[in-house]
Amino acid sequence: MDRVYVHGYDTRENRRLRDQANTLVELLHSDTSYRAGSRVLEAGCGVGAQTVTLAGNSPNATFTSIDISEDSIADAKKAVEFAGLSNVQFLQADIFDLNFEPESFDHVFVCHVLEHLSRPDKALAILKRLIKVGGTITVIEGDHGSTYFYPDSEPAHTAIQCLVELQKRAGGNALIGRELYPLLRKAGFNSIHVSPRMVYVDSSKRDLVEGFTKNTFTAMIEGIRDTAIKAGMVDQIVFDKGIQDLYRTTEADGVFCYSFFKAFAAKS
Ligand SMILES: C[S@@+](CC[C@H](N)C(=O)[O-])C[C@H]1O[C@@H](n2cnc3c(N)ncnc32)[C@H](O)[C@@H]1O
Repeated sequence: MDRVYVHGYDTRENRRLRDQANTLVELLHSDTSYRAGSRVLEAGCGVGAQTVTLAGNSPNATFTSIDISEDSIADAKKAVEFAGLSNVQFLQADIFDLNFEPESFDHVFVCHVLEHLSRPDKALAILKRLIKVGGTITVIEGDHGSTYFYPDSEPAHTAIQCLVELQKRAGGNALIGRELYPLLRKAGFNSIHVSPRMVYVDSSKRDLVEGFTKNTFTAMIEGIRDTAIKAGMVDQIVFDKGIQDLYRTTEADGVFCYSFFKAFAAKS
């Protein structure tokens, strides 16, 4: 396959991730803060879209934010510096090949990463070893199967399904939100609590129309247009109609819904 869908590696995608983070800060992060003195590992920090919020909300905790991509780490460093934060250390590293001592961290935070991994179960087992007894993990993932909208549109569902299929072919899972509970259970975590976080957008919510429906979700689907067509998954006319119909949901009478899943679990 030419260019499989991978988050975080081009400018438009980076802008999309930042838009998404800004719009969804309250929905996804309002109940996450870490005690003074805590050591937190952020696994797969990308361009720092979540790092800035995490570190800003817990100024007296220290964060180690890692990512496999050197370029993303460089961008994340800039974002954190720009925000005036000094409680984050960055490291280029692979989740599957980390050099930290067992139980080095009080907490682990993972957001929009497991969906890209072919072995999310293995990643969680590795991360669990790094958490102290009594510590916690927080995981946030989306689930593209949770997308529905008005007016409904078959071509729009087809275009979304292309992303689900491409991500599957790349070894990931765009429907992973619904699996957080079983995955954390399998990894041996306790006190698992998963809450769906629904983004509901109608035209009275201008910031979400722009920041989420258009610049986050539809931009993400548009981003796979050429790959999906080239792979023979969809007819060009159908795909373009699907995108047009997703934009149609942002008009005066349109509605768009999507659910993220946020999981919190303990190591005992
Ligand atoms: C969609 S981005 C999410 C970034 C960030 N957590 C956010 O929510 O904005 C996924 C990130 O996971 C990183 N990643 C993928 N596989 C990884 C691995 N094995 N080890 C470390 N990072 C990885 C990618 O480089 C990418 O930056």
